[in-house]
Amino acid sequence: MGSIQKGMEIELEVEKLAFGGKAVCRHEGLVVFLEGAAPGQRVLARVVRKKKQYAEAQVMGCIRRSPRECEPFCPHFGLCGGCQWQHIPYEDQLSWKRQHVSECLEHLAGATDVEVDRTVPSPREQWYRNKMEYTFSERRWLSPEEIATGRDYDRSFAVGLHVRGRFDRIFDVEACRLESPESVEMLRASRDWCRKSGLPAYTTRTHQGFWRFLVIREAKRTGECLIHLVTAAHPGGEDVVDGLALHLRSLFPSITTFVHSVSRKKAQVAVGDASRSVFGPGFIEERLMDLRFRISAHSFFQTNSYAAEGLYQAVLELAELEGRETVWDLYCGTGSISLCIASRAKEVLGFEIVADAVEDAKVNCRFNGVENCRFLAGDLKEIILNASRGPGSAGPPDVVVTDPPRSGMHPSVIKALLELAPRRIVAVSCNPSTLARDLSMLSERYGVGRVRPFDLFPHTAHIECVVRLDRKD
Ligand SMILES: C[S@@+](CC[C@H](N)C(=O)[O-])C[C@H]1O[C@@H](n2cnc3c(N)ncnc32)[C@H](O)[C@@H]1O
Repeated sequence: MGSIQKGMEIELEVEKLAFGGKAVCRHEGLVVFLEGAAPGQRVLARVVRKKKQYAEAQVMGCIRRSPRECEPFCPHFGLCGGCQWQHIPYEDQLSWKRQHVSECLEHLAGATDVEVDRTVPSPREQWYRNKMEYTFSERRWLSPEEIATGRDYDRSFAVGLHVRGRFDRIFDVEACRLESPESVEMLRASRDWCRKSGLPAYTTRTHQGFWRFLVIREAKRTGECLIHLVTAAHPGGEDVVDGLALHLRSLFPSITTFVHSVSRKKAQVAVGDASRSVFGPGFIEERLMDLRFRISAHSFFQTNSYAAEGLYQAVLELAELEGRETVWDLYCGTGSISLCIASRAKEVLGFEIVADAVEDAKVNCRFNGVENCRFLAGDLKEIILNASRGPGSAGPPDVVVTDPPRSGMHPSVIKALLELAPRRIVAVSCNPSTLARDLSMLSERYGVGRVRPFDLFPHTAHIECVVRLDRKD
């Protein structure tokens, strides 16, 4: 099929956006995926990969603009792996997301008769994130525009975000409308200071170097800010980090705490083996739905505080609690969903693998005077079945809320749910494809009700869903 070869330049009509975010075109019957193009455009593109079923191409130029494209607002658009849909009007982004949820459910779960609601927009389209994670690198990646200036850039140090599709390339973020203008200033100040420290950035090529990750967490409702710096182990490293912490505190009074973690892991994840608070309590406080939440450096918390409220409200509605139910909150993080539903349930049992998050969840209950929630720490697949048995157990759940990571629920967790057979399951998911897989496994005992997509990540292809499932018998 088709005469396409790698390296060829071809003209393409952009038809639609695919799940995952790329634009879809067809050339002589072959599907061609493109980054950074908008439906309705005609583009000149170079083929960069040719497979049996599809090809991938890079946009070389626009031949005809789309009536439905808009000007990206960020200077890093195109290079950055972050907001890939800035050129798509927000209204259109929402309807593509809804369509992708429907397609996933239809193709991967065979759910053809499921009603997918309109995507609920994020209350904020920019400055919506409460957390940004920046990576250090001993090589700075330059954009084609920066290279074209001919300037002699120092390319030996960078802290920023990943180049689109490249886990090994980092560019210096100079502007970003995801978190706050002040957080970008914090990033710049950290970069300048760390570069001058004389210690090199960590590199995955040799697993040498000191600076690894800079995480900036900013509670939107309280203004409190937590800096989490992850470094490699190094003699005298703590003193160097203390210097950075003091420097940042003197510039930014909103930084209420600074946590330093040392990681000996080869994997590039912003998680430390050992952590200490350089100053402040080691956590910040955020407010959602009139509740207070303590968030520490390693705890999960929904990154869009504004949109999370709508999501949790939907969980509450779809759970339809009467106050007599035992509810299990699977993958509960810092207990945000548990706390939101606690006043409508008899009791709530939360399950979470990260011990710090469980501690946060317990504190969050005390903070809010909630007395009917308990939390279990551990890998869900190992602890779920025993939780309903033995002395002091809550017994099987009437209603389950589940909110797994992107990989979805482990098959043994789904098996346990089928055995426990709660009357209702409210499934929250940040990945429609694993959601569809999980729903199809649950379909032997559960019927899929309403599906409500929520946009927690404007200008990206990510979409969150809340789905209600009712036991068939
Ligand atoms: C998408 S987050 C949901 C958190 C929470 N429901 C919220 O809204 O803040 C998924 C959570 O699952 C936890 N997790 C991941 N794998 C797990 C496992 N195998 N067992 C228990 N919890 C797990 C993560 O640490 C994370 O807190």
